[in-house]
Amino acid sequence: MRWVLGAALVSTLVGAVGTSRRAGAHDGQPAALMFSNAAGVLGTATADGRVDMSNAFFADLGTNGRTCFTCHRPAQAWTITPAEVRDRFDRTGGLDPIFRANDGSNCAAADLSTVESRRRSFSALLNRGVIRVELDVPMGAEFEIVDVDDPYRCGAPLTSASMYRRPLPTANLSFLSGVMWDGRASKAGRAIEDDLIAQALDATEGHAQGVPPLPAQLREIVRFELGLVTAQMRDHGAGNLGAAGARGGTAPLSRQSFCIGINDPLGMRPPVPGACLAPTTTFDPVVFTLFGAWQDSHSPERQAIARGEALFNTRRFVIDNVPGLNGAVGDPVFGPIQSGTCTICHDTPNAGNHSVAMPLNIGIAAASRRGSDMPLYTLRNLWTGEVVQTMDPGRAMVTGRWRDIGKFKGPILRALAARPPYFHDGSAATLEDVVAFYDTRFNLRLTESEKADLVAFLRAL
Ligand code: HEC
Ligand code: HEC
Repeated sequence: MRWVLGAALVSTLVGAVGTSRRAGAHDGQPAALMFSNAAGVLGTATADGRVDMSNAFFADLGTNGRTCFTCHRPAQAWTITPAEVRDRFDRTGGLDPIFRANDGSNCAAADLSTVESRRRSFSALLNRGVIRVELDVPMGAEFEIVDVDDPYRCGAPLTSASMYRRPLPTANLSFLSGVMWDGRASKAGRAIEDDLIAQALDATEGHAQGVPPLPAQLREIVRFELGLVTAQMRDHGAGNLGAAGARGGTAPLSRQSFCIGINDPLGMRPPVPGACLAPTTTFDPVVFTLFGAWQDSHSPERQAIARGEALFNTRRFVIDNVPGLNGAVGDPVFGPIQSGTCTICHDTPNAGNHSVAMPLNIGIAAASRRGSDMPLYTLRNLWTGEVVQTMDPGRAMVTGRWRDIGKFKGPILRALAARPPYFHDGSAATLEDVVAFYDTRFNLRLTESEKADLVAFLRAL
């Protein structure tokens, strides 16, 4: 129980206002909150070493009982897992504020009359931990939605789409280059901090069905979020992830510097506040430098993590047909990238997200991957008549552009073990599933032991 300083706090903190906890020391690494998970222990460090429960992040600012904390949980790396959602359903008979029809249920019109009807109405949230994001097709879009094969038969008009997406963590945000899976909270030329203020406003009006909070409250939320740093601290097999020369855990991460475009393979420097000032340096594929010291460790588990890190950084494969990168006319790269690595897209040092806002279509929302619980939209290009099917049009619902269909941002890769399932739609239940996806998608031909090493590394982040 030594590692679980935060568990008691959080089980009692629902509704608690004004309490806070001092930081606990963990193997020399200060973290304000610690939680056990399947892989070991997760930590969160805050800007001042405390968690201020009086922050507006935890306050009921809307009308449906929800707070930011309803869907963004420290034990789950500041997102929420289906296990937590199911537990909450069982404890409350499906009446916890996360179970609201505005975006928690499969359809906006949901039968909430009995426990069993609620279980059916919230099945996507219960099974995948996804929230319904409903957006209208933008004005002037290059496409129209001509059909939807909807497993839930919501009956929504074809002028909008319901997309089922995982909440993103509200931690490690100082590494962001774009806000939301489809970047819709980011505006060209606007600082990430201001994007986050706009996001907090939307979240209060949308998720919590509230009136706009005071500007001071929005700033307070964003200051809090920006101070949160979360990472796995301890691994059941490898022990303290910051020991024997390794640099896992929250303390090294909170010292990691970042500017937008920091290690971009294409040398992009978008004209936004927070972009790197220094002239373009050459791309370094060695993005993660946390576990190199464990290469010669006497512990097999530590060695596996070090080998996984090296695979992530340097394993070569061909990257082709990725719209946004090299899959379509007008993309920045012409033709296949012959010696690609995971880090071509996951290029931010020791955080792993895309260091520039560059939504990509790696095929997660493709019709061929469809599970029976996801809608399938048919989109028609108004100018060419071309037709495409997708589970989630992604960035295209923000820009209205045909070429943006199926594009999503490359997310931060820290604290993964605490927050399955993965990808924007929760379609990869485990990190093994993530690795299997990439093995097939990019024809990596990993051996079973290489897959295990890669998973061990991802689990230690
Ligand atoms: C009902 C659940 C729910 C509630 C309540 C909620 N969020 Fe979220 N949050 C989500 C989902 C789902 C996404 C991802 C949506 C997308 O990208 O399309 C998200 C994304 C975010 C992101 C984007 C992070 C990134 O990496 O881009 C931030 C920041 C965030 N939420 C902050 C907040 C704040 C602040 C509040 C309270 C005002 C809040 N959320 C309330 C579900 C929720
Ligand atoms: C061509 C760009 C690209 C390459 C190469 C790439 N990724 Fe990704 N990665 C992405 C994008 C984009 C997403 C988000 C996709 C989505 O959810 O729709 C993602 C998502 C992920 C996630 C899920 C994170 C989460 O929060 O759900 C993991 C884990 C991951 N990638 C690991 C890897 C590994 C391991 C490799 C190398 C084998 C790799 N990626 C190679 C672009 C890439």
